[in-house]
Amino acid sequence: MKKIVHSAFVTHLECSETGEHHPKDTLLGLSKAGAPLIVRYDLDALGAAIDKETVAARPPDMWRYREFLPLGPDVEVISLGENTTPLVRVPTVEKRLGVAEVMIKDEGRLPTGSFKGRGMATAVSMAKAFGVKRIAIPTAGNAGAGLAAYASRAGIESFVFTPADTPEVTASEIAFHGAKAWRVDGLVGDCAKIVADGTEEMGWFDLTTLKEPYRVEGKKTMGLELAEQYGWTLPDVIFFPTGGGVCLIGMWKVFEELKQIGWIDGPLPKMVAVQSTGCGPIVEAFNAGARDVEPWGDVTTEIHGVRVPNPLGGKMVLEVLYESNGFGTAVDDDAVHETRARVCAEEGLHICPEGAACLVALEMEREAGRVGQQDRVAVFNTASGLKSPMPPMTRGLDKDQVVDYSTF
Ligand SMILES: Cc1ncc(COP(=O)(O)O)c(C=O)c1O
Repeated sequence: MKKIVHSAFVTHLECSETGEHHPKDTLLGLSKAGAPLIVRYDLDALGAAIDKETVAARPPDMWRYREFLPLGPDVEVISLGENTTPLVRVPTVEKRLGVAEVMIKDEGRLPTGSFKGRGMATAVSMAKAFGVKRIAIPTAGNAGAGLAAYASRAGIESFVFTPADTPEVTASEIAFHGAKAWRVDGLVGDCAKIVADGTEEMGWFDLTTLKEPYRVEGKKTMGLELAEQYGWTLPDVIFFPTGGGVCLIGMWKVFEELKQIGWIDGPLPKMVAVQSTGCGPIVEAFNAGARDVEPWGDVTTEIHGVRVPNPLGGKMVLEVLYESNGFGTAVDDDAVHETRARVCAEEGLHICPEGAACLVALEMEREAGRVGQQDRVAVFNTASGLKSPMPPMTRGLDKDQVVDYSTF
């Protein structure tokens, strides 16, 4: 394995459980205690090295925040053009719910059509720099598509395991990008077991959520972008569809880093983890005031991105919810499908079911009073709606018949 691929600002990797320091110059998965590792930076040095104006003058993509990422100067960035994603205001939603401002951050515009590209671009760049030749991942679908694309671009072999009922577009996309891909007749945890069990024989690097430290770092760029787009302030509440929870963890991490270097001040947003009533282990733990998550038994939801019955980072997500004065909330599948169709038709914005789940949650929480009328709300649409099934369009016309326009 190669050494010294980290940015000079990285000081060490820290065990999220024990705080034990781990060296930064080798490729690590979990900590010695078997917990996720967190990348730590010399924030004083980082803050002294760049300022907001320097960032503002750079191209509008995730690499404008490179100092906040672990990649050292000698690391080749494996990129497919990770553009800044837009904040799209949704006036019909604001009016309907009676909320001052609702912005959807549309992550469906990224390469491979989802927010997963951010973490994958970062993790694959690091893996390549460390000399990794093979990577494996269990996935609800989008992370697998991201890995397949970035690994192919990096010349790394990828192995992807996804639940059998993963939407067709995403499953096909994974294989089309050149991964060796399998549908597994189980859930993402079953896929994760196949990856873990195969590590010794196959010699692959395990890129399971939070089993390596760099995907989280890439996800920080969502928080950085959000802060910059809000003029280096932050919204009052952030709704995020939560499965493994990497994004909530990554965003919260960077908000604290930004606060520490003085780029933002004031209260940080309430972070809201949106899950399903058919798989909501984080919400259940939060409502019980628990510090850790119990595995969810009977998984009934078809909202694929949030279908993670036993998230490895559950404890870390709960910490974010408690620290931010946020909460967890669970929604029904039927309401999600209705809302997705309505927003697509009324706003012209094609959100994915996971993004729609956040809007359902926002509506519930506005009614329940946990979101106020004056709140500035940011909702993450984590993937392009085009990746999920839509109702078929079945009406046809016979070109040789007279068209009866009165029936239109
Ligand atoms: C579209 C979509 N939204 C949300 C999530 C959940 O993200 P996380 O695992 O970071 O909580 C996923 C994960 O697969 C996803 O594919």
